[in-house]
Amino acid sequence: MSEWKTVIAGLGSYLPEKVYTNADMERMVETNDEWITQRTGIKERHIAREDEFTSDLATVAANRALEDAGMSAEEIDLIIVATVSPDMHSPSVAALVGNNIGATKTAAFDINVACSGFVTAMSVADQFIRTGFYRNILIIGADTLSKITDYNDRATCILFGDGAGAAVLTASKGEGGVLATLNGADCSGADKIYCDGLRDPKWCGEEKAQTHKRRSLWMNGSEVMKFAVRIMSNATKKVLEKAGLTTADIDHLIPHQANMRIIEGARKRLEVAPERLFVNLDQVGNMSGASIPVAMCQAYQQGRFTKGDVIAIVGFGAGLTWAAAAIEWSK
Ligand code: COA
Repeated sequence: MSEWKTVIAGLGSYLPEKVYTNADMERMVETNDEWITQRTGIKERHIAREDEFTSDLATVAANRALEDAGMSAEEIDLIIVATVSPDMHSPSVAALVGNNIGATKTAAFDINVACSGFVTAMSVADQFIRTGFYRNILIIGADTLSKITDYNDRATCILFGDGAGAAVLTASKGEGGVLATLNGADCSGADKIYCDGLRDPKWCGEEKAQTHKRRSLWMNGSEVMKFAVRIMSNATKKVLEKAGLTTADIDHLIPHQANMRIIEGARKRLEVAPERLFVNLDQVGNMSGASIPVAMCQAYQQGRFTKGDVIAIVGFGAGLTWAAAAIEWSK
């Protein structure tokens, strides 16, 4: 049995310069700042330029994470990118990033689990590292949701933003690191959030087909919301249990940043004190795969993490999927 553990060696993130405020949203659709603030908690979101794609955002975040880890791209054995808005169908964003950063000795692939993506990537990487198969893995959550958003649909366009967050994971025989992970899916909920592609959008009924832009995100907001509160609290409890901990041990809860009402609902169910919750949703909106790593990176850069702290990260998204991890900060 291998004794390797997965530890976080470096974190990095990137947000595009352009910002859409709620006032900007008011100019696009029939909405207002009060509705958006009360129903979602979002004030602003960052938006990629027309010529800026997911791999561009991911590359900056990756280079920053490598710098933080004091590691070169040549040392990376595997790159995993979690995204639902890849630059193109093929090759993967991971391959594009690998080329951009000069990772010449790496394997590379993407995973498509929507907002559960970064945590799922951590779980996958953890399996490779624990078994001794790979030593250094770069995981990235990156999305340019603005490119697959219908800016005529007020129920979705106010939610989404663009960004990228990356972590360099490495094998260690020391203390802490990834304590436990879990992944799940309720595939019967596949039609609750989706972005049509090659398949006819009528797959999910006439509503989207008739009223929405093709290749844009569609969702049943209220059903997703109920699912999200339940699954975020259940998954967090379960992953802590796997790690031999309880919710009372959480020093930092970093949930997927989709909606403040979902986050608060989950926090209350978990009985985690508000000061242990990290939220950046108001400034960035929902960035799918990028939400959790950007939040984690910001919390780290604000000096919130101390060696030995227990961090719980938990995401949910299209699929319907979920993923959670319990981490002991060891940097
Ligand atoms: N501005 C003003 N009114 C809006 C609006 C907007 N941007 N979007 C929707 N409305 C209206 C609706 O048309 C509806 O009007 P009606 O009562 O006349 O029909 C009313 O507000 C309430 O809509 P509803 O969908 O019930 O609101 P909600 O409280 O469920 O909030 C979401 C909508 C989308 C904010 C919320 O459902 C949500 O965040 N769901 C989860 C989504 C999510 O997390 N998705 C990503 C998963 S990773």
